[in-house]
This record gives sequence, structure tokens and C-alpha cells, in this order.
Amino acid sequence: MKISLVLLTSLALAHAASVDVFPRALPNAPDGYTPANTTCPAVKPKVRSANTLSRNETIWLKKRRKETVDPMKELLGRLDLGPFDAKSYIDKTAKNVTNLPNIGFAASGGGYRAMLNGAGVIKAFDNRTANATSKGQLGGLLQSSTYVAGLSGGGWLVGSIFVNNFTTISDLQKDKRVWDLQRSILEGPNSKQFQFLSSVSYWENIDKSVKGKKNAGFDVTLTDYWGRALSYQLVNSSKDDGGPSYTWSSIALGDEFKNGEMPMPLLVADGRRPGELLVGKNSTVYEFNPWEFGSWDPTIAGFAPLEFLGSKFDNGIMNDTCVRGFDNAGFLMGTSSSLFNQLLPRLNSTSMPDIVKQILEDILKDLSKDDQDIAAYAPNPFYNYRNSTATYATTNELDLVDGGEDGQNIPLHPLIQPERHVDVIFAVDSSADTEHSWPNGTSLVQTYERSLNKTGIANGTVFPTVPDVNTFVNLGLNNRPTFFGCNGSNFTGPTPLVVYLPNAPYTAESNTSTFQLSYEDSERDNLITNGLNVATMGNSSLDSQWPSCVGCAILQRSTTRTGTPLPDICRRCFAKYCWNGTVDSHPPKPYQPSMKLGSAGSGNSVSTSSGGAAGAASTGSDLASSATAFAGAATSILGG
Ligand SMILES: *[C@@H]1O[C@H](CO)[C@@H](O)[C@H](O)[C@H]1NC(C)=O
Ligand SMILES: *[C@@H]1O[C@H](CO)[C@@H](O)[C@H](O)[C@H]1NC(C)=O
Ligand SMILES: *[C@@H]1O[C@H](CO)[C@@H](O)[C@H](O)[C@H]1NC(C)=O
Ligand SMILES: *[C@@H]1O[C@H](CO)[C@@H](O)[C@H](O)[C@H]1NC(C)=O
Ligand SMILES: *[C@@H]1O[C@H](CO)[C@@H](O)[C@H](O)[C@H]1NC(C)=O
Ligand SMILES: *[C@@H]1O[C@H](CO)[C@@H](O)[C@H](O)[C@H]1NC(C)=O
Ligand SMILES: *[C@@H]1O[C@H](CO)[C@@H](O)[C@H](O)[C@H]1NC(C)=O
Ligand SMILES: *[C@@H]1O[C@H](CO)[C@@H](O)[C@H](O)[C@H]1NC(C)=O
Ligand SMILES: *[C@@H]1O[C@H](CO)[C@@H](O)[C@H](O)[C@H]1NC(C)=O
Ligand SMILES: *[C@@H]1O[C@H](CO)[C@@H](O)[C@H](O)[C@H]1NC(C)=O
Ligand SMILES: *[C@@H]1O[C@H](CO)[C@@H](O)[C@H](O)[C@H]1NC(C)=O
Ligand SMILES: *[C@@H]1O[C@H](CO)[C@@H](O)[C@H](O)[C@H]1NC(C)=O
Repeated sequence: MKISLVLLTSLALAHAASVDVFPRALPNAPDGYTPANTTCPAVKPKVRSANTLSRNETIWLKKRRKETVDPMKELLGRLDLGPFDAKSYIDKTAKNVTNLPNIGFAASGGGYRAMLNGAGVIKAFDNRTANATSKGQLGGLLQSSTYVAGLSGGGWLVGSIFVNNFTTISDLQKDKRVWDLQRSILEGPNSKQFQFLSSVSYWENIDKSVKGKKNAGFDVTLTDYWGRALSYQLVNSSKDDGGPSYTWSSIALGDEFKNGEMPMPLLVADGRRPGELLVGKNSTVYEFNPWEFGSWDPTIAGFAPLEFLGSKFDNGIMNDTCVRGFDNAGFLMGTSSSLFNQLLPRLNSTSMPDIVKQILEDILKDLSKDDQDIAAYAPNPFYNYRNSTATYATTNELDLVDGGEDGQNIPLHPLIQPERHVDVIFAVDSSADTEHSWPNGTSLVQTYERSLNKTGIANGTVFPTVPDVNTFVNLGLNNRPTFFGCNGSNFTGPTPLVVYLPNAPYTAESNTSTFQLSYEDSERDNLITNGLNVATMGNSSLDSQWPSCVGCAILQRSTTRTGTPLPDICRRCFAKYCWNGTVDSHPPKPYQPSMKLGSAGSGNSVSTSSGGAAGAASTGSDLASSATAFAGAATSILGG
């Protein structure tokens, strides 16, 4: 009886899910992709000053920090920390949650390479991954985290997980309706999975939804097209429509999120002032969290309610209709990765029907060349904010660009805000800094240098000292996990310990081009597996003590606060993994890392080269190679 009821219920649920609205992130926009006027809440939304955490985040954190206690006990209890009883330490410390380890995760940009490499790391850290909770495994680190930030390709990763009800990487790999990268984003998804979609109807659908927004009076740019297209790969909508109604703010409405049962997702984008072509090192960095959009930087120092973006604000006050539906999840992911916009019209795919090319050409006609990577946030929520006369406050449109354009390709900015008190950041770097698309620490250097501008843009943020990029390469800090800022007492303010996890070849040549737009499933999965090996150091085969060292990194700040000595093993770990201040700045030889472990399997069609010869592994598709010329230019903008 009971069993059949359960069965019936799950059938009903499955049915509901297949016909539609069974909500994940809720498809709750009032009119699909078109933002629409709606009734305002009793208290009119307004822009708030960024001098504290939002009330929403503060309330949520109370629940979240408690929810991290069990997974942290489970995780740390599984890592060998010698005589240190991590379980009872966490239990004891949980009485005052501010003393618990506060963990953040950051996934860098770098196109699909970054999405997949980052996914492998998340997979290793997720307790739902098969075998990830066996002895010495790192599953549960994701469940122990407070924040998960992504930017550009890393933002696609974070969005794929959180917009789809905190799904797992394994499920994203299995589900044919998402992460199908075999056909490029230009051609659209495989019509076998998407019932009615040919390339033509795919682009017509995209064009229709963007035109809808335009006809309602909103500025549209290439980012709107880009974001809609991305949604067909990243948002699992049962309607075969790329989920035009999925908003980022709806993430805050899910019960599991509200109860603090999952970490908080963050996307990062950069500001670009009108007329400015290159994004400067001191450009304003914006974040999208589930409740708000804005910036901690002194330039803006304000946050607008995300749900009501698209409404008119004047000096932070909304005195017109409340618009909803502007914060489309794909549009936000597209904003954070808007560098790739420019690929759309420039790629000439032989398989692309003329009508599609026509659509893309028409889009271009309206845009000046220099504005193609811009996402228009208009009306500008910070218009006249604090009566400022700064440019950002006097324009009706706020222009945002790819979060990596300022060189900070790892989204550390939201995680180093002193208000957030993050203790340890697991920072995955899949940047293409070197000639062969490997990271070389540039991103950390940028964030470090920005943090030195104490009276200006740094605004209270503190970042551990890192060496120059030559040292990164010469000492191999870009080739294996490295800890920065191990000694927390050296700093002037709350400073996280950074566990730097650079992309390196463990089981696959994971240095595919940033502009490779299609991947066979086997190649996709090999990159994910390589990322998993980045996080686990090849299932600890390269260092049997690695899991313990991860435990030490997690505990370092917390035990310093509580005056608890760490076990001996941690001393050995820190001696091994902490950058100790050594510098070797002479120009390095070209960086050509050799494969650390054997190749994962025979399925990898890309790495025809045997382990050792790194080379530019991306043979890529026609699409990718036709993009190469452009890619060169874009790479220099991105700085990687
Ligand atoms: C989201 O996932 C959780 C945990 O797997 C599940 O209990 C819940 O039913 C899911 N919610 C939706 C709306 O699918
Ligand atoms: C965020 O906080 C505001 C004010 O406290 C509240 O009105 C709103 O419902 C909260 N938003 C969510 C999504 O919980
Ligand atoms: C993963 O961690 C969560 C939070 O502690 C827990 O509820 C869940 O049961 C765990 N899942 C597995 C498969 O261990
Ligand atoms: C919790 O610990 C912090 C310092 O680590 C301290 O400032 C705070 O007062 C403590 N809170 C309580 C309720 O004891
Ligand atoms: C999990 O571990 C079991 C036993 O060691 C092994 O047979 C299985 O292949 C592993 N599964 C995965 C996905 O690694
Ligand atoms: C929303 O309301 C404003 C006036 O408050 C109006 O100008 C605008 O056209 C309306 N937009 C739509 C899409 O109806
Ligand atoms: C960035 O610095 C330049 C000079 O180095 C200055 O002209 C510009 O105003 C600064 N931008 C911001 C947003 O502070
Ligand atoms: C909105 O506020 C501005 C000043 O902040 C004022 O000039 C304008 O009249 C207001 N509009 C409405 C409809 O109240
Ligand atoms: C794309 O192909 C069309 C013909 O199909 C050609 O006219 C156009 O110049 C090509 N554009 C680029 C950027 O190569
Ligand atoms: C902005 O200017 C208005 C009108 O001049 C004034 O009432 C208000 O106090 C000012 N607000 C701020 C934050 O300076
Ligand atoms: C490091 O990467 C930057 C681009 O991000 C590049 O300009 C520089 O030449 C690289 N240096 C080394 C030593 O790899
Ligand atoms: C520090 O930041 C300010 C404004 O944010 C900018 O004007 C100045 O050029 C920056 N200085 C350096 C050395 O980057």
C-alpha cells in the first residue's frame, strides 16, 4: 500500500516534471525572456549600500553554516590527520559557528576547457559522486562549502549546477539535454534530443525571444543572443526551449537553498565605462548572487535587488513600475562570458544554413565593432546613485563585460570581501596564459596587485602574497597544487588561505583551446576526469598524503582562531605545499608539462600525441580552427 503510494507519487512527480513547471530554479519570469511590468511588493525594492552583507545573506548564512557541520565532520573524519580528532574538533567549534572553517570555491574562466576542468574538481569534491566518500577521498568538500563562485566558462559550470537544482556533474554528463557539446553552440543542440529543433528553428527561437525583449523597449546586444544560445546547453528545460523563463534570482526561492542545504552561487562580471575599449586593472568588479546584483568596489558600493533588475532606479529609489524577468539565467551566464559573443557572427560554419548567417549578420549591423562584447544593463540600477557624478551614475545604461577581461580570471573578488570572512578558497585555474593554453598564475598576480591599492579599488580586501608569473613557472607552482597565505597571522585583515589548483595534464591533454566550441562526449569526459585528478592528485597516487593536506588547509584558519594546535602532519603538508617566499624570476623556458599519469583511456580523440609532448592539443573542429585568427586577438584581450 505504502509502496504503491510512493510509486504513484513519484510517477506523478515525474509526469509533472516532464510537462513542465516542476521547479528547479523556477522558470518564474512573467513573460519568458521578455522582462515585464509587475506589481511591486509592499515595500518598494531599492539599492542598498554595500557596507554590510545583505539581510538575506546574513539570515541564510545562519542556516548554511550549521548545515556545513555534518559534511565537514564526515569529510575531515575521513582524511588522515594523525592524532587530531577532527570530528570532535568540529563538534566543539560548531557551538560558535563563526569559528568553523568557512570554505569558498572558485572556478576560473577559459571557455569549455574551464567548464570541464572545473567540473572535474567539483566532481571530486561532491559527496554524491560514486566512491567520493571512500577513505581518503575528498567528496563532501562541496557540501562543506559556503560559497561557489564562477566566471565565464567557470560561470557556465556554476550555472549548470545551480540553475538545475544543484545537480551533479555525473548527471550533467548523463543527461542528453545538457552539456551536449558535440555540436557547436552555433549549430544548436542535437535535434534527436530536442524534438523540433533544426539549426534554423533554433536560431529563429533565439531571435524571437531577443526581439521580444527589444520590442518591450529594452536595449539588446549580442550578449542576449549569446545567453539564449548558451541556455540550450546549460539549462535543462523540459520544453526544448532553452528555458527562457529561468531567472537567476529564483535560485533563492528553492527550499533546499533557503534551508541552507547547498552553497551560495556567485557569478562575476566586469564593468566597462562608455568609450573605454580595454578593461583596466582597476575596473569595477560586479557580482550576481541569488538576491542581488552590484559591486563591493568603492566606485559603486551598492547592490540592487536582482529580481527587479530592469526597473528604473533613480538614486537607488524605484519610483516607477517594478519590472521582473530581466535576470534571465542564460543572460547572466552570457554576461559573465561575453568575450565569446564575438565568436558568434565571426564563425562561418559550413553546416550553418544561410538564414542563420543572415540572422547573425542582421544582429551585427546594429552594433559597433567595439561594443560587441558588452551586455547592456539598462535601465542602469545605479543611475544617480548616491547623487554621484561618476560616469557609471550618469549613464542610462550600465555596460558589463566578461569577468576575466580585467585579468582576474579566477572569481576571487566576491570571496575576499572582508564581510564574508572566507577562510580557505579552493581556486581552480583553467586559464590559457601560456603559449599552449596552460595557466601561469597571471590571475592570482592580478588579484594580488589589485589588493595593494589600499586607498582605492582594494577597499579593505586583503590577498596573500604571490610571486611573479616567471616564478610560478620556474618553481612549478602552476603545475601542482600550491597553497598561498599559509600563515594567517601575517596579514592586516581577514585573508583566506588560497589552495591553488592549476589545470595540468594528469590523464588528458587538458589544454584545449579556449575557442574550441565542440567536444565529443569522450573528450568532454576525459577533461572532466583530468579535473578530478587535478583535485585528488591522481587519486593520491602522486602524494599519498594529499588528502590530509587538504584537511590541514581547511582547518588552518579555524584552529588559529580557536588556539588549537594542528597535528604534525600539517606541518609537513605546509612545508610541502605552501609557497615559502622563494622567487626565481628569470624568464622560463617554454612551459611544456608532461603527462603526470597514463592517459585515461583510448576514447580521447584529441590527444594523439603521447604523454610528454604537450603541444597545442586542440585539434579542434572546423569551427574552432576558423576562429583561430580571431581567437588570437581575443586571447590578448583576455590576457589568457
Ligand atoms: C531538487 O533536488 C532535491 C535533492 O535531490 C530533491 O529532493 C528535490 O525534489 C528536487 N527539487 C526539484 C524541484 O526537482
Ligand atoms: C530578501 O530580504 C528581503 C528583505 O528582508 C525580503 O523582503 C525578501 O523576501 C528576501 N528575498 C528572498 C528571495 O528571500
Ligand atoms: C552528502 O552530504 C549531505 C549533507 O551532509 C548529506 O545530507 C547527504 O546524505 C550526503 N550524501 C552522500 C551520498 O553521502
Ligand atoms: C565566537 O567567536 C568569535 C571569535 O572567534 C568571538 O568574537 C565571538 O564573540 C564568539 N561568539 C560567541 C557567541 O561566543
Ligand atoms: C568505485 O569503487 C569500486 C570498488 O573499488 C570500483 O569497482 C568502481 O569501479 C568504482 N567506481 C567508480 C565510478 O570509480
Ligand atoms: C511598463 O510601464 C511603463 C510605465 O510605467 C511603460 O512606459 C512601459 O511601456 C511598460 N512596459 C511594458 C512592456 O508594458
Ligand atoms: C582607473 O585608473 C585610471 C588611471 O590609472 C583612472 O583614470 C581611472 O579613473 C580609474 N578607474 C576607476 C574606475 O577607478
Ligand atoms: C522619481 O524620482 C525622481 C527623483 O529622484 C523625480 O524627479 C521623479 O519625479 C520621480 N517620479 C515619480 C513618478 O515619482
Ligand atoms: C562567411 O561566409 C560568407 C559566405 O557564406 C561570406 O560572404 C563571408 O564573407 C564570410 N565571413 C567571414 C567573416 O569569413
Ligand atoms: C541626493 O540629492 C537629494 C536631492 O538633492 C538629497 O535629498 C539626498 O539627500 C541626496 N542623497 C545622497 C545619498 O546624498
Ligand atoms: C604568463 O601569462 C601571460 C598571459 O596571461 C603572458 O603574457 C606571459 O607571457 C606568461 N608568462 C609566462 C612565463 O608564461
Ligand atoms: C588605485 O585605485 C584608484 C581608484 O580606484 C585609481 O585611480 C588608481 O590609479 C589606482 N592606483 C593604482 C596604482 O593602480
